[in-house]
Amino acid sequence: SQYVRSIPKALLYRDLLLQGYLVYPKFLKKIDNFEVRADDLWLATYPKSGTTWTEEILSLIYNNGDIDKVKDVLLVQRVVHFEVGRPVGHSRWLKKLKSPRLMATHLPASHIPSQLQQSKCKIIYVVRNPKDNAVSYYHHHRISTFLGNYKGSWDNFVELFLKGHLVHGDWYEHIKGYWDLYQLYPNRDLPKMIEVMADFVGRKLSKDTITRIARHCSFDEMKTNNMVNRENLPIKDLFDMSQSKFMRKGIIGDWRNHFSAHQSQQFDDKYNDKLQEIGLTLSFDTED
Ligand code: A3P
Repeated sequence: SQYVRSIPKALLYRDLLLQGYLVYPKFLKKIDNFEVRADDLWLATYPKSGTTWTEEILSLIYNNGDIDKVKDVLLVQRVVHFEVGRPVGHSRWLKKLKSPRLMATHLPASHIPSQLQQSKCKIIYVVRNPKDNAVSYYHHHRISTFLGNYKGSWDNFVELFLKGHLVHGDWYEHIKGYWDLYQLYPNRDLPKMIEVMADFVGRKLSKDTITRIARHCSFDEMKTNNMVNRENLPIKDLFDMSQSKFMRKGIIGDWRNHFSAHQSQQFDDKYNDKLQEIGLTLSFDTED
């Protein structure tokens, strides 16, 4: 019921996004001062890099792999988005949440609460290669009412992505901000990553439990799971799923179906040296 009561505020927030604001400047101080708990777990991502997938995994880790416990509860209620759904300044509802809180944010590292910057609690950051990330973000803009149901071309979208003129800003600046703060674990063996995340947050899971979570969090399972695929949200017009799906393809390398050779080169020119500088290797194809 708390979630439903928040809907008018959520709509307010949508208007705010449509006006091109991520957060009202007057809320920046409140974000900065937001009290982080030592047993919070924050998931930080650039949008469309696998947030929902990681959220479902983390939620199951926290529920000891008991799928029955989560199967009728919307993911957005199990892992709460710090700045999405209601204006961030209204943080009273976040204070009321029981520990341990699972939180998610797309804010750049420069704008997260200062206690989070100081590592008062654990943070997991997910990175996806920028080409697939851009394709996914393009389709996300096409279906998102709150982002104005983008009607422009892919080519124009690529330009906006490269200039960092999208909500949540420049892809590289985003990952670099968190890279400077935290150590990442590049690995895409799902059961192994689940084990790494569980170890990281101090939960010991049996092999069976890890296998169960990995199966439940496969793309095919998540695509048809209405608790996570955004098909069943209380606000009905947030996404226009006739254009594309929130759980779209879930693969590495779909960028090849969208990028021209020139656009691919533009991305390589803009990001490759920088990624090498900070020692970050990303997968652009399944065999990488
Ligand atoms: P695509 O649009 O390339 O299919 P986010 O949750 O950050 O918005 O990211 C959404 C992307 O993650 C989408 O990518 C979606 O299909 C993909 N995704 C979600 N769950 C997945 C899963 N279980 N396995 C693989 N990809 C998944």
